[in-house]
Amino acid sequence: MSNLLSRAIRIDQHGGPEQLKLVQVTVGEPGPGEIRIRHHAVGLNFIDVYQRNGLYQLPMPLQLGMEAAGVVEAVGAGVTHLQVGDRAAYASQPPGAYCELRVMPAKCVCKLPDSISFDTGAAMMLKGLTAQYLLKKTLPQGGLQSGDFVLFHAAAGGVGLIACQWAKALGLRLIATAGSDAKCDLALAHGAEYAINYATNDFAARVKDITGGKGVKVVYDSVGKDTWDKSLDCLAPFGLMASFGNASGPVDPFAPGMLGPKGSLYVTRQTIFTHIATRESTQAMADDLFAVVGSGQVNIRIDQRYRLEDVQQAHRDLEARKTTGCTILTL
Ligand SMILES: NC(=O)c1ccc[n+]([C@@H]2O[C@H](COP(=O)([O-])OP(=O)(O)OC[C@H]3O[C@@H](n4cnc5c(N)ncnc54)[C@H](OP(=O)(O)O)[C@@H]3O)[C@@H](O)[C@H]2O)c1
Repeated sequence: MSNLLSRAIRIDQHGGPEQLKLVQVTVGEPGPGEIRIRHHAVGLNFIDVYQRNGLYQLPMPLQLGMEAAGVVEAVGAGVTHLQVGDRAAYASQPPGAYCELRVMPAKCVCKLPDSISFDTGAAMMLKGLTAQYLLKKTLPQGGLQSGDFVLFHAAAGGVGLIACQWAKALGLRLIATAGSDAKCDLALAHGAEYAINYATNDFAARVKDITGGKGVKVVYDSVGKDTWDKSLDCLAPFGLMASFGNASGPVDPFAPGMLGPKGSLYVTRQTIFTHIATRESTQAMADDLFAVVGSGQVNIRIDQRYRLEDVQQAHRDLEARKTTGCTILTL
């Protein structure tokens, strides 16, 4: 039995990026249902910000990080889908991916196809599986058909650029929003049919123009507080408001009665963790993601790379809306 050492990023209390501390931790052997994985790259996600600043309260001390790729180094009892030496990647609870080496539940860890690099694996698992469940499983009554309009907020971000490309591959007409003209151009270059700079435009009015007054079948909204009200005005009758994040703050409480006059709308709040609750569902979603990335229909853009020890700057940039596409921490 060996106790190995790993550099890791930990917080001792919720707060700003200055709470992110580089520490040395010991890593033991995997127990039943667990593996030990040596990371080659780690993904950065907006959920890491919520877990750091306390919007999502978690017990302290806390090693952050939900996404990484690397090589399986040890396998605990009962794990049959992974072997020592396998290349692997994951999006998974509990947090702890900001490190070189960790022991973790094997359930959400998937073998990474040889054609996909560790950097890409680390960048895409949480964001790509999210785009997967949104576009394939978070659907209005009757589903989405080729030619249908959907609205996707923050479309030049990590999840956003994957969703733009995947939506195009599915034949959907994706209307993107983003916070600058340059970000709008990026969304357009990745498959969005229209892009609205919501910092300078009334996006609900633009959506009505684009759709000839009809509205969209689904709004995929990870911005939350700032976009919620107007997003409801973008929907066609029986449309689906799919809330999945709170980059601008959590959505205020609302009265369901208002959904009737707006067109008998549906509202859902989705989280990836329901979708990846079982090994089978995780693998099925990952296979779908690997196929769409492997075929070249979805390109995983890594626009920022920071060293693990520079994670404070990575958080500052993500929160300041300075990033586009995916961001990874290098080891
Ligand atoms: N529920 C789930 O299962 C799930 C899974 C993954 C991600 N998410 C959510 O999806 C969103 C995207 O995640 P990501 O990791 O790919 O991040 P990201 O989109 O790369 O970054 C967040 C983006 O949100 C936009 N934004 C709007 N208002 C903001 C504000 N007040 N402060 C900061 N950013 C603001 C910014 O783009 P603009 O400048 O273009 O506005 C920013 O770049 C996040 O809200 C995340 O929590 C949810």
